[in-house]
Amino acid sequence: MTKIKKALIPAAGLGTRFLPATKTVPKEMLTIVDAPIILYVVEEAIQAGIEDIILIAGRGKYAIEDFFDSSYELEDKLAKEGHTHMLERLIKVRDKANIISIRQKHALGLGHAVLCGAPVIGDDPFAVLLGDEITTDDGKTGSLTSQLCRTFEEKGHSVVSVMEVEDKDVSRYGIADVEDSADNCYRVRSLIEKPKPEEIKSRWALTGRYVFENSLLSLLKEARPTVNKEIQLTDSMNLLAQNSPMWASSFSGTRYDAGDKLGYLKANVEIALKNSEFGAEFKKYLQEVSQRL
Ligand code: G1P
Repeated sequence: MTKIKKALIPAAGLGTRFLPATKTVPKEMLTIVDAPIILYVVEEAIQAGIEDIILIAGRGKYAIEDFFDSSYELEDKLAKEGHTHMLERLIKVRDKANIISIRQKHALGLGHAVLCGAPVIGDDPFAVLLGDEITTDDGKTGSLTSQLCRTFEEKGHSVVSVMEVEDKDVSRYGIADVEDSADNCYRVRSLIEKPKPEEIKSRWALTGRYVFENSLLSLLKEARPTVNKEIQLTDSMNLLAQNSPMWASSFSGTRYDAGDKLGYLKANVEIALKNSEFGAEFKKYLQEVSQRL
């Protein structure tokens, strides 16, 4: 049984869906309640037992690297004033995992971003968590990434997370054609990136959480640009699924596309409502405001 110990977090996109905010601030650094999106993603990986987290950041995204770095002056000041709890979440993450940063020198697509992590991945299987999506779970089954890691350990082959989308939305996602199954884990037949509605046989969309056998990397090395003139991860996944079993698993929790304005607002509201300090008061405010407007 191979345990998944390494995860890649691609965070190299330009964030054009969130302009003007993302002109100077990487979308992964936008705040959900009191922490940047990327911290939630890293915490999800750690919760799944990941020990090495490889951030793939693009040009101008040094704020992500700096965020995980120690900040001597600030930490010393907080320690002297007895306020270290203010950075507790971040320090916990730094203690539990190695955060490794790799620069994607050219924006050649998600497949290329994943390939940039190959020197650190070595020969191991690995997880991929897209850096602008966050997930919340039902508190019973564990995070989405830990569910995928468990399934990978059981099956011994790649497993990807999927959700059913409406016809009108299929062209925004990678879409998986899957075999029928009695449970929520389906064998993948093929995958296609951002198809037209008439090109698909199912509406199972890839949600940005994956666990791959290492052989994906050799397929990515050979990959050429396709959709949007980018090297697409989905193309190499499709080839992998033809050579080796691949599973698609539908998730019981909630996923937010926090790189999209509406998804970002929903994530903020839901996470704020669960906040132990002010969640109840915030709920009252939302009820009051929804009556008023
Ligand atoms: C990427 C992937 C796509 C996947 C999506 C999930 O697309 O290429 O297969 O369905 O993430 O959010 P992007 O959102 O970068 O266009």
